[in-house]
Amino acid sequence: MSTTTPFSMFFLLLCMPSLALLPHRTLAEPLRQRRAETRSWPWPRNVVPRSEPAAGYFAPADGGGAMLTQAPNTGDPPLGEPLNVIIAGTSDPAVLVDQQSDGGFRNFFLSVGFSAECLGQHEGAPQTANLGDGNGYLNETSELRWDYGDPTLGTCQETVHGGNHFRYWTQSGKSADSGAYFLATSYELPIAEDHNIIVNGYNLGRDWLIGNITGSPINTSALTNTSTFTGTTSYAGFIYSSSIAYVSGLLANSSSGVNHGGDVGINGQTAVDGLVAVVTISIATKPANATKSGAIRIVPTTTLPFVALIPTLLVGLLLGALSL
Ligand SMILES: *[C@@H]1O[C@H](CO)[C@@H](O)[C@H](O)[C@H]1NC(C)=O
Ligand SMILES: *[C@@H]1O[C@H](CO)[C@@H](O)[C@H](O)[C@H]1NC(C)=O
Ligand SMILES: *[C@@H]1O[C@H](CO)[C@@H](O)[C@H](O)[C@H]1NC(C)=O
Ligand SMILES: *[C@@H]1O[C@H](CO)[C@@H](O)[C@H](O)[C@H]1NC(C)=O
Ligand SMILES: *[C@@H]1O[C@H](CO)[C@@H](O)[C@H](O)[C@H]1NC(C)=O
Ligand SMILES: *[C@@H]1O[C@H](CO)[C@@H](O)[C@H](O)[C@H]1NC(C)=O
Repeated sequence: MSTTTPFSMFFLLLCMPSLALLPHRTLAEPLRQRRAETRSWPWPRNVVPRSEPAAGYFAPADGGGAMLTQAPNTGDPPLGEPLNVIIAGTSDPAVLVDQQSDGGFRNFFLSVGFSAECLGQHEGAPQTANLGDGNGYLNETSELRWDYGDPTLGTCQETVHGGNHFRYWTQSGKSADSGAYFLATSYELPIAEDHNIIVNGYNLGRDWLIGNITGSPINTSALTNTSTFTGTTSYAGFIYSSSIAYVSGLLANSSSGVNHGGDVGINGQTAVDGLVAVVTISIATKPANATKSGAIRIVPTTTLPFVALIPTLLVGLLLGALSL
């Protein structure tokens, strides 16, 4: 039966594209890479991974950026707030998408106790930040607030009574595309006191947010650049594991250029202690109903049976042809 060999090869080659597709798409493959190859079906191209530093972010100063935001109407040069929490770009790619669905950034923060602003309202002009990624100064992406245990209306309490909140930006420009989120966290006074920041409110805002991840209080005055923590939080069936490392060298241990600096750092204390909490988040568990957060389906389920039938159909056709 010397003729069967070329035919077997023929079928094997026919099946090659579908066989070759499967190993290219795994759960572990970063979503941002997957997004970059949306045109690849059915013939995958080689994916060029974006360079990402081991730390999960680029130091903004290296690209002409700054770790202080610029607050509007605070003078020239403007005063700013410290970007004192970083969600590392080495986190699970699903968490780095600014959405609530599929375990995204907003779902992670719901698990920590922060949600979008009261009834979608946003008071005040946006702050800007330059993360050194080539995009220059950009308006804040959005702002999330401590929700007092009520994701729907709790942020209205925050708006009136004050509390913890953060504005955020993503480092995603062409020259430093880490995918990391930079958060300017601070603890506000009530609206009646014009939303100033409480004493030590930048450091405390950062550490209460981290405490909300770890589930136990962070002692702000005991922190150093070797402090590390871990925590587990969950929302909508997603369970997140976070590891936190406080790092120095990004922010200055200083009040210089800091908005409300004189009121926040009193008794000789600096308004900013110079530490940034770097949070790396992985997803420990996804709920069974999280369809889109899993591996991208190569073929819609409805066409799968048909595709599986193709080799059989071809064999049938060929056998038919041979028997003629
Ligand atoms: C930033 O926000 C201000 C005030 O809302 C707006 O006027 C401006 O167009 C925004 N800039 C960009 C680049 O979106
Ligand atoms: C969680 O956040 C709230 C509001 O900022 C704060 O009062 C509380 O102390 C935080 N919890 C921990 C354990 O840090
Ligand atoms: C916090 O740390 C400081 C400095 O190490 C220490 O003096 C203080 O007792 C600690 N507070 C708590 C509540 O552990
Ligand atoms: C940690 O801080 C100390 C000063 O307190 C400094 O000498 C050291 O270089 C820092 N280490 C890192 C890894 O930033
Ligand atoms: C998915 O299931 C979880 C419970 O495992 C539930 O909390 C969540 O609301 C569900 N999400 C959707 C989109 O149905
Ligand atoms: C910040 O500087 C002050 C002195 O101005 C020092 O006492 C403090 O330990 C420093 N904080 C950190 C976190 O290095």
